[in-house]
Amino acid sequence: MFRQVFFGPLIQTNDKEELIIKESVAIFVDNGKITWILENPKDHEKEFQIEWRIWDGIKVLSRGQFMMPGFIDAHTHAVQFPNLGLGYNKGLLDWLETYTFPLEKKYSDTDFAERVFEAVVKRTIKMGTTTACYFASLYVDACAILAKKTAELGQRAFIGKVNMNIPRDDGYCESTLTSVVDTIDFIKSLEIIGNPLVKPIITPRFALSCDMELMQKLAEIAKTKDVHVQSHVSENKDEIMAVKQAFPHLPSYTAVYDAAGLLTNKTVLAHGVYLEDSELAILKERGTAVIHCPSSNTNLKSGLCDVQRLKANGIKIGLGTDVSGAASYSMLNEMRSVLQVSNCLSLTRDNYTPLSYKDVFHMATLGGAKALAIDDKVGNLMMGKEFDALIVDMNAEGSLLDNFKEYTLEENLQRFIYAGDERNIISVYVKGKQVK
Ligand code: GUN
Ligand code: FE
Repeated sequence: MFRQVFFGPLIQTNDKEELIIKESVAIFVDNGKITWILENPKDHEKEFQIEWRIWDGIKVLSRGQFMMPGFIDAHTHAVQFPNLGLGYNKGLLDWLETYTFPLEKKYSDTDFAERVFEAVVKRTIKMGTTTACYFASLYVDACAILAKKTAELGQRAFIGKVNMNIPRDDGYCESTLTSVVDTIDFIKSLEIIGNPLVKPIITPRFALSCDMELMQKLAEIAKTKDVHVQSHVSENKDEIMAVKQAFPHLPSYTAVYDAAGLLTNKTVLAHGVYLEDSELAILKERGTAVIHCPSSNTNLKSGLCDVQRLKANGIKIGLGTDVSGAASYSMLNEMRSVLQVSNCLSLTRDNYTPLSYKDVFHMATLGGAKALAIDDKVGNLMMGKEFDALIVDMNAEGSLLDNFKEYTLEENLQRFIYAGDERNIISVYVKGKQVK
């Protein structure tokens, strides 16, 4: 057995979305799993002196440092990293045609996929993303490469083979048969590898890329294999209109996915900017989560998503960078975008309470875990969960922040969220293994 113990302050949220701050804890980790959390370990120093020789890894945090759960990026496109910062003069559908699809087509070249995905996984880990939910590629070989990179580099990940069977002039699409066979093959290949950190996720791109037959078949696979599902929903007004034209007999965008059987409590839908009340009722009923992607929604001028409304309707909310809709793969940046969008909404509405830094901290950690239905394993550092954690250091080398005075832990959390960056994340752990 490999035992570790981490001594220091801990900041996280709980199931009630409350901020929990502990000045001093000892977290005991056996084979990556948290087996015991002791508060105020100094009171028990004598016992430790005798015992701690048997532990393999002891980490004592210094002043200005604290532990927190790792970030969960619940929606990002690994293939789109080469386009970071490009094309925001367009709206969603034009942007997809002009920038995104031509780039994504290049991943039939596995050397290109190797190069990009190595960088994607290394860079997101550096930013503190311990779990990433990826749209991988249309091409199954490229998907396998992303799965291999996350496994090698130690990131927890969902890897989605993208499904698109609506014919296109440029050939960036696939037949229904290929889509289904490749999806099953990909799931089987991950089953054989059996890495508990790297899971497949069924990924119909959106209702404009897949017909009902394919979506139904994918829903069937998700059910038989008991795997997650991800897609996009209600992101942009032109997109929503096109979906209504493509599925005239169905009452809403959400109803299309529901008719296919794609909505479960292991389904995550990105954006959800313009969801109608009837759609919220379906999502609530199915236990399906919405992944908020505020940077992408503003870059592509998709809209301002009202997260308070989704929350009030009992919808689970995660947070996603949606690279390259976002120009940054940093969850800290994404958290700031949430706050900016929420503040903007509060300026245009009466009696609107904007989200707080505590809310976004929850969304980026336990909220994401709940959205992905992995909160039995990650999202905060509780007994029985796995140790997916960051060590944040407000005195880190190269930090953008100085410490001219004393700060409380809660102040340091605020400073980290609003003004810190990856240089303040000095260590990253996934299931107890240090990956940064
Ligand atoms: N809808 C369908 N595909 C995409 C994509 O790649 N990015 C975003 N933001 N929305 C989409
Ligand atoms: Fe997306």
